[in-house]
Amino acid sequence: MIELKHISKWINQGSKPNFILKDINLKVAEGEFISIMGPSGSGKSTLLNVIGMLDNPNEGEYVFMDQDVYKMKEKQRSQLYKTHIGFVFQAYHLIDELTVYENIETPLLYQDVKLFERKAMVADMLDKFQIVGKKDLFPAQLSGGQQQLVGIARALIAKPKLLLADEPTGNLNSKQGEEIMELFTQLNKEGVTIIQVTHSEKNAEYGTRIIHLLDGRIERNKEQRNEKHIERIICPCNNIYILLFI
Ligand SMILES: Nc1ncnc2c1ncn2[C@@H]1O[C@H](COP(=O)(O)OP(=O)(O)OP(=O)(O)O)[C@@H](O)[C@H]1O
Ligand SMILES: [Mg+2]
Repeated sequence: MIELKHISKWINQGSKPNFILKDINLKVAEGEFISIMGPSGSGKSTLLNVIGMLDNPNEGEYVFMDQDVYKMKEKQRSQLYKTHIGFVFQAYHLIDELTVYENIETPLLYQDVKLFERKAMVADMLDKFQIVGKKDLFPAQLSGGQQQLVGIARALIAKPKLLLADEPTGNLNSKQGEEIMELFTQLNKEGVTIIQVTHSEKNAEYGTRIIHLLDGRIERNKEQRNEKHIERIICPCNNIYILLFI
């Protein structure tokens, strides 16, 4: 689904470039659930923004669903993003002038979903995230955790093929955080490809692969051998494979 080839991003400081991402090579298959970890400032958000087509690198190639992203016209690229990608931002990025209801509805407007369908879909999201009572409030009237839930609802409403989530549970309490991770796991089982950035080891383990960034480079790229992974491997085969992993 995704292939990043030799992606580098830098800013020029004095005579030397200061690398934010350095020679990132990454392939992501459809159906994966990836967790990106790494210290603050290691480039996690920048990498996620590049994957989400919200930021351009200085160098490198990006192929998304067999299309060369940097050779596309801006309009086509934006269409690709709107159709296939849901993004949960680290700093929420809700639209201040719109209510909770309107914020969640926004991605559906880009896809020309009819009014009665939009109403039903937003109502479903408000219900799922238990924020029905907040639907007419503006972002500034919400707590950080509530804004985060609205951001997640907005990212999911248009049923994206790829969900990119930057610290999606950073402002939630532990129960809410766990519920979001369970929801992501469920979506992933239904076929949504997920890439999340997290500082939490526990949340990272929901993923099937963990990528560690350090100083803008991929330091480790590790397949998780958790139950989900085993399940996938043994499903079409037989029990011999279980023995290999236990
Ligand atoms: N537009 C920019 N101009 C200058 N420096 C930038 C820019 N964007 C990011 N950086 C720098 O790139 C580095 C990586 O930033 P990034 O936001 O990707 O880190 P992060 O791993 O997401 O950190 P955190 O865990 O704190 O969110 C930081 O040192 C940051 O200051
Ligand atoms: Mg970040």
